[in-house]
Amino acid sequence: MNNASDVVSTDLDYICENLAEEFPQLSGKRLLIIGGGGFLGYYLVQSVLRWNTRNPAAKPIHLTVFDNYIRGVPTWLTDLTGNPNLTLRKHDVVNPMPADEAGFDWIIHAASIASPTFYRKYPIETMDANVNGLRLLLDYCLAQKAKGQPVEGMLFYSTSEIYGDPTPEHIPTPETYRGNVSCTGPRACYDESKRYGETLCVNFAAQHGVPVKMARPFNNYGPGLKITDRRVLPDFARNVFAGEDIVMLSDGSPTRTFCYIADAIVGYYKIMVRGRAGEAYNIGVEGPEVSMKFVAETVTRLSSELFGYTGKVVTQQSSDKDYLVDNPNRRCPIITKARTELGYNPQITLDEGMKRAMLWYQGNQLAVDA
Ligand SMILES: NC(=O)c1ccc[n+]([C@@H]2O[C@H](COP(=O)([O-])OP(=O)(O)OC[C@H]3O[C@@H](n4cnc5c(N)ncnc54)[C@H](O)[C@@H]3O)[C@@H](O)[C@H]2O)c1
Repeated sequence: MNNASDVVSTDLDYICENLAEEFPQLSGKRLLIIGGGGFLGYYLVQSVLRWNTRNPAAKPIHLTVFDNYIRGVPTWLTDLTGNPNLTLRKHDVVNPMPADEAGFDWIIHAASIASPTFYRKYPIETMDANVNGLRLLLDYCLAQKAKGQPVEGMLFYSTSEIYGDPTPEHIPTPETYRGNVSCTGPRACYDESKRYGETLCVNFAAQHGVPVKMARPFNNYGPGLKITDRRVLPDFARNVFAGEDIVMLSDGSPTRTFCYIADAIVGYYKIMVRGRAGEAYNIGVEGPEVSMKFVAETVTRLSSELFGYTGKVVTQQSSDKDYLVDNPNRRCPIITKARTELGYNPQITLDEGMKRAMLWYQGNQLAVDA
């Protein structure tokens, strides 16, 4: 693997191979991905299209992507225009389903800004998407059921942030942990709306049999996460390709486990197809749990090997006073539930994933942004 397109191609094949039992269940069906223009959308969308081309004898999966493009229209998405099995539509999840859309069989709600810098810029929009937008989709599922065209499965993106800053005895963190979360701090618009979103899902599943399942992603990284996103790895990549030192905006001590995006995408489709209604699943990796300093040093080493980078790691204070407020010190999941119930088995190591990410950033240094 030498460049960005090799990385994407390898990853899409990996996703399809690891979803050999799940993607066929979507064959001939209509899948809607809302918020499909974002980081997770990058592989959620392209893996479905790859499955269609890898399986010419099967009925294709018909994919519709809605996005309000609040942070710009991604060129990777508009470049897919013309694919007969793909429909793109500008639509905000807080508005009712357009009346001219035929029924959807499967729905993914990924429409919410995930970058702390940007959800703090758009807190009301973030809450509305996770609460009001979700509610409209759950009501849509009820309406489809009443029409005799029930939705077969829906995936709501929650987050590992619903656990807040877990106390030490709750790390690694299982799905049963209730969280240590501020309801008024600068991250609350995100954390609390995801928490209430999960409550909506649980109750629509219990009261009305809506087949909605929840994913709790733990720090995904890799292709699709645009270089201007202000999350940690893109920030480091930006430093590398600008020929600057890598700037850490904390003392480097907070730790995380990092899940490469191709493994995570496999987990998400498994939840949607095989997960139990009203249930939440952690998706991430159990280890290694590494410090931000270690990540910065790894990026430095890999960039030196791959691109002859000669910079070093330096520490600075963020100009954003809320940058580190309520930032969890540790983040590490227990993923036994997804492993045993769904057959989720992440395999890409941190070193390999970081290498692929850096190769992808080398070929994707420009990003439209808002
Ligand atoms: N990436 C991660 O590691 C991670 C971690 C935890 C949770 N999540 C969740 O997964 C989902 C997708 O995350 P992501 O990293 O792709 O986020 P992202 O910010 O990269 O992309 C979100 C997409 O949703 C769109 N969107 C936002 N509000 C919308 C609205 N009201 N209507 C229609 N479209 C809207 C945006 O334009 C964007 O294209 C989000 O719900 C996020 O909270 C992601």
